[in-house]
Formats: sequence, structure tokens, C-alpha cells
Amino acid sequence: MKTIAVIVAGVILATTPLSAAELSPQVRATAAAGRLNLEMRKSLIPSIQKNGLTGSMDVCAKEAPAIMAGLEKTFGLTMKRTALRLRNPANSPDVAEKALLEKLAGMQKGEETLPQEVTLFSETESGKERILRYYKPIMMQGPCVGCHGTPDKIPAEVKKVLAARYPKDKAMGYKEGDLRGIISITVKEKIPEGEFKK
Ligand code: HEC
Repeated sequence: MKTIAVIVAGVILATTPLSAAELSPQVRATAAAGRLNLEMRKSLIPSIQKNGLTGSMDVCAKEAPAIMAGLEKTFGLTMKRTALRLRNPANSPDVAEKALLEKLAGMQKGEETLPQEVTLFSETESGKERILRYYKPIMMQGPCVGCHGTPDKIPAEVKKVLAARYPKDKAMGYKEGDLRGIISITVKEKIPEGEFKK
């Protein structure tokens, strides 16, 4: 029952701007990740239809960060998108993210089913804050291949724009269904004073 309640709350929060303060870190993280995916789908497909691929670069480059900044405020957390092979080096993974990305890539190589999400809890050194780290795999879908796909799927004019804008681009060569990266979310929560261990 608990899992169902969390999923329902996640779905509701993914579509309506409710106050998030009193919800658990897990629910807030799930909702933020769901909402990012939803908003990206809502932006990317119409933009590609209207402006073409070369006119849609900023959906991934500017809209995604803007959507994430809004979700960070709404849900009181920090979030980013990261991957092993990057287009923008500013999206580099930290040590924990890199380890998870390598693990997921290994699972995909071994044709194992990837988890929908990974959640880890820890405490800060002081013992006064609880930290939730939440990760959700980002999978390659149809609309992504024009800019992240194998060379035969990326039109010449898109290659030209990407080469000019991202000279060190490594975020190509993916097929639909491949792991592209992860959404990484951190939620910090104060531990009530009575529960301090030291
Ligand atoms: C119109 C081209 C275009 C399309 C289509 C596109 N992207 Fe991107 N993507 C980009 C660009 C440009 C960047 C670099 C963004 C930046 O400067 O931070 C990027 C960056 C990313 C990143 C951040 C990591 C990195 O490599 O810097 C992820 C994750 C990502 N894209 C996933 C996707 C997924 C999943 C889809 C399909 C749903 C998709 N993209 C569709 C152009 C595109």
C-alpha cells in the first residue's frame, strides 16, 4: 500500500503545483523527476515539428535547465542531468553519479533490466541533516536520435551546428532504448534535535 501511495502522490504532483513542503523527500524527488520528463516531452516534440532539429537545440540546452530550476524551487531540492558521454562538460557527474552510471551501463551491456529509480539515504557529517539521493535513468527515445543518435540518424546540418557549438561533443552514437544518462536529485532534510545521534 505504501508504494502505491507514493506512486499516486508522484503522479498527482507531476501534474499539479501543490505545496511540497510537508511531503517526504522521496515523494518530492519522484515528482520532480516525473515532471521534468513530462515537461521535456511537451516542449521537444512540438519544437522539432515547428522549428526543426537545428532550431530545437535550446530545448535541451536552455529549457531543460530552466525547467529544473523551477522544480528545484517548487520541491525544495537540487537536480541535474548527467551522463558518462557528455555534450556539455558542465553536466559532468560527481563520484557517486559516475559510479552509478557505470553500474547501469554494465547492466545494459549484460542485457539486464535497468531499475526505474535508485534511492540512497545518508547523513551529513554533523549528523544534523539527512540526505536523500535519487536517480532516474534517462532512456533514448525516438525524438532524441536526431541529435544524440548514431551518425546515420543525425542530419548533416545538425552535425554542423553541434560541431560548432560543442567541439568536444561525446553525446552521440546512441540507439533508441539506450541509457542516455540519469536525472540526479538531492534532497536535504533537517533531523529533529531529539533524534541527533551525538
Ligand atoms: C534538437 C537537438 C536535441 C534533441 C532532439 C535532444 N537533445 Fe539532448 N542535448 C542537446 C544539446 C544541444 C545538449 C547540450 C545541452 C547543454 O548545453 O547543456 C543536450 C544535452 C542533453 C543531456 C545532458 C547531458 C549532456 O550530454 O550534456 C541529456 C541527458 C540529454 N540531452 C538527453 C536527451 C534526451 C533523452 C532526448 C530525447 C528525449 C534529447 N536529449 C533530445 C540537443 C538535443
